[in-house]
Amino acid sequence: MNSSSAGPETVGVNGCPLAHPPSGDGDAGPGYSDLLRLDELLALPPGPTELHDEHLFYVAHMIYELWFKVILDELECARDSMFTDDVPRALYCLRRVGTVERVLVGQVEVLETISPGSFAKLRPFLYQASGIQSVQFREIEFLSGLKDEHHLARGDLRPADRASLKRRLAEPSLGDAFRDLRRRHGDPDLAELLRVEIPDSDLLAVAEALTDHDELFSIWRSRHVHMVERIIGAKPGTGGSSGVHYLRSTLNERFFPELWEMRTRL
Ligand code: HEM
Repeated sequence: MNSSSAGPETVGVNGCPLAHPPSGDGDAGPGYSDLLRLDELLALPPGPTELHDEHLFYVAHMIYELWFKVILDELECARDSMFTDDVPRALYCLRRVGTVERVLVGQVEVLETISPGSFAKLRPFLYQASGIQSVQFREIEFLSGLKDEHHLARGDLRPADRASLKRRLAEPSLGDAFRDLRRRHGDPDLAELLRVEIPDSDLLAVAEALTDHDELFSIWRSRHVHMVERIIGAKPGTGGSSGVHYLRSTLNERFFPELWEMRTRL
C-alpha cells in the first residue's frame, strides 16, 4: 500500500498497480465496463467452435477458478487471524468461505445441463486438460491441511504452478493455526465444549466453521462425481485418471479428521 499523504493511490491493497488510479482531481473515472475490464474478460473463453456447449463449459470453469481465488484469500485470512488470536476476523473469513462453497455446489447443476452427446463432441477439443490439473483446487486442499505430495509429481504441472504448490506445502495449514489457537486458549477438550446444549465457546465456533468448510468441500466432491457420471459414465477422464472410479476414491478425504472424530466421544 502506498502512503495516503503522497497523493492518490496508484497501487491496490495487494501491491498490484491499479488499472485506473484515481487522479484526485475530481474526474469521473472509468465506468462499469472499463473498471471491470469487460472487453478483455468477455473475450477470454477459448473457441469458438460450432459446438453449442463449448462456451458454457469454459465459462463455468473460469468462474470456479475466480471463486477458488476468493476462497484461498479468505482461508489465508482465517489462518493468519487464528495465529494472531483474532477470532472475530477468523470467523468473518470462514463464513464467507462457506457461503462461496455453497455457490460452488449449486453451480454443478449448470454443468449437468450439458448432455452426454454434446460433451462427447466437445471432449476432443479439451485434449488432456482436466480439473485434476487445477492448481488453486490443490492449494485449497494443501492450505486446509490435506497435503498429498504426489500432486507435485504430475508431469503436466507448469513450473510456476509447482512452485505455488511447494510454497503451500511448506507453509502452515488451517489445522496448524487452529491447534495454535487452541493451545493459547488452554487446550480444552473440544468434545467437552460440544457437550453443552447451546455451544457458547469462541473456540468451538471456529471449530464448527472449519467443519463447515470441510463438509461443504466434501459435498462439492460428491456433487461433482455425480455430475461426471451422468455425463461420461465410467469412461476415463481427459486428465488421465480412471474418471468416476478415481473421483469416488477421494470422497472420504477430510481436512480436519479430529473435528469429526471428537463427536463419537460425546
Ligand atoms: C462436464 C463437466 C465436467 C466433467 C465431465 C468433469 C470430469 C472430471 C473427471 C473425469 C475428473 C477425473 C480426472 C481426469 O480428468 O482424469 C475430474 C476431476 C476434477 N474436476 Fe471435473 N469435470 C467437469 C467439470 C468440472 C468443473 C466445472 C470443475 C471446476 C473447477 C471441475 C474440477 C475438477 C477437479 C478439481 C478435479 C480433480 C478432483 C480431485 O483430484 O480430487 N470439474 N473431472
